[in-house]
Amino acid sequence: MSERFPFPSLPSGWFAVATSDEVKPGQLVSRQYFDTELVIYRTESGVLRVVDAFCPHMGGHMGKIGEVKGESLRCGFHGFHFDTEGHCTQTPYDGPPPVRARLERWPVREVGGWVMVWYDALGREPEWQLPELDTEGWSGLTWRRFPLNTHPQETTENSVDFGHFTQVHGFDNGRITRDVSVDGPHLTIAYAVQRFMPWFNLSFMPKYVLEVDYDVKVWGLGYSQVNVDLHQFGSEIRFFVMPVAKDGDHIDLRLGASIRRRFGPVSDLIRNVAFSFLCLEVTQDIDVWEHKVFKEQPALAVGDGPVATYRKWVKQFYAPTDEPTRLPRPEPRPVVSAAV
Ligand code: FES
Ligand SMILES: [Fe+2]
Repeated sequence: MSERFPFPSLPSGWFAVATSDEVKPGQLVSRQYFDTELVIYRTESGVLRVVDAFCPHMGGHMGKIGEVKGESLRCGFHGFHFDTEGHCTQTPYDGPPPVRARLERWPVREVGGWVMVWYDALGREPEWQLPELDTEGWSGLTWRRFPLNTHPQETTENSVDFGHFTQVHGFDNGRITRDVSVDGPHLTIAYAVQRFMPWFNLSFMPKYVLEVDYDVKVWGLGYSQVNVDLHQFGSEIRFFVMPVAKDGDHIDLRLGASIRRRFGPVSDLIRNVAFSFLCLEVTQDIDVWEHKVFKEQPALAVGDGPVATYRKWVKQFYAPTDEPTRLPRPEPRPVVSAAV
């Protein structure tokens, strides 16, 4: 699957495949994730669906030639319609729709403005859920996508890799304020750092140091929420770090930010500045992620942070090595209508 990473499958979990505002009612987007072609669409009444892109009739790619028609997805190859359950409900022919022409649906839900899809290498239904996110009083998302040559396990490991905060990101005086704790697919850790802000310094001013508290909440390898307390700005921000695998060694990493809107448009400005710092930090990580090797037995040192705990925790997200994985998926078979 990947020559670079030794993992037995792609990781199971909830992964962000789009943001909610990319799929407005009546819209459809095409994505390639989990070694699979997907279509994400929303009906005119607002029902969100994620389905295999290839039409079960004769394999038309509905991400390219499909469209939303009312409450249906219509394939442009022969004009078959599919309802939100995946059933074929209408063809241009006189006879009944073929019962075997059924679209494969993927479990999907929206959390905090993200379209989250459940992936499991063995095709199992969701084994756990993401928590609801209260967005009342919070701004919308600002977000950005980074296509990267790496793996969701590597980017998520950043949250517990304490040593790199000073070396890669230049944070000062970092300390863990709440030890790592794991509970099923959930991992949390909190830390505080100081950040020297050269942009805010003029030669006659004292050195400006920003105190930042990070509360990291991770669910699986696709959803990390970092609650940031910026005391000096009276602001609370949620950063989102959302990797999703395209295949065994390529991901899209989506970053996002939302702020508690205490100061109206000024809050949005603070969110945007803070988000640009997050993007800058990730840019600092990219060279590391894209060129490192994965060490199965790292020579860990005191001070590294709870990397060993993390490595044990991630094992639950991979399919057992002796079971066949869902990938590669079979080619869709042609289905012949009983009427023709
Ligand atoms: S209607 Fe989709 S391939 Fe025929
Ligand atoms: Fe980092």
